[in-house]
Amino acid sequence: MTAAGQPRRFRLDRFISSRVGVKRRDVRALLASGRVCLDGQAAREINQVVDQFSHITLDGEVLQDFAATYLMLNKPRGVVSATRDDKHRTVIDLLDANMGSGLHIAGRLDYNSTGLLLLTNDGRWSRRLACSNNPVQKVYRVTLEHPLTERYVEAFAQGMHFPFEDITTRPVSLKILSDHSAELRLTEGRYHQIKRMFGRFNNKVLTLHRIAIGNVTLDPQLGPGQHRPLTQMELDGLF
Ligand code: URA
Repeated sequence: MTAAGQPRRFRLDRFISSRVGVKRRDVRALLASGRVCLDGQAAREINQVVDQFSHITLDGEVLQDFAATYLMLNKPRGVVSATRDDKHRTVIDLLDANMGSGLHIAGRLDYNSTGLLLLTNDGRWSRRLACSNNPVQKVYRVTLEHPLTERYVEAFAQGMHFPFEDITTRPVSLKILSDHSAELRLTEGRYHQIKRMFGRFNNKVLTLHRIAIGNVTLDPQLGPGQHRPLTQMELDGLF
């Protein structure tokens, strides 16, 4: 896995050839004789493509066995959604030593935003999550400096044009919870999107907390800075 979370896909014969130190034509014989297993099944195809999470054995000896990791973390304020930063603590610094190695963030939150953050070492998964053809709803709670009115609901539902990127935001559902607080449902994550949308009303976002991404809801048992693996049910229901 690269730092940016690019998936590593490679041909099985090349992998075995370099890992075991045999010529590619000899790998053919290993495959043909069923001595190579891929994810528990004999692999016989010479041009089979595998990735960094494929479980590969030769004569029962494990050649590759990396587990995919998917975590939810309750991001506190004042921590950067990055894997490295020269000045500030990052979300990776909140994990146990070695645990963060190879992980990247699937959908950042700003420095002072809090709540649900997903971390993984699976680049294909995080790209799928970010893919605009596959909109996954994100839910946020915000508190504002000034009172909200019904005008906000309309403007957010219509979408706003951001001249800098020349894009119009997708409809955002805004539910007023009290004079100064709202729940927002978005299917995209433009740069500082929520703050910029409230900025149109000169209304400063005081707190911004993400509570859900698709079916994955921030576990109320997780205090700020704590994390846990996603369950199989959460993973299965996400897309
Ligand atoms: N929109 C913002 O402005 N900030 C966030 O952290 C997330 C969405």
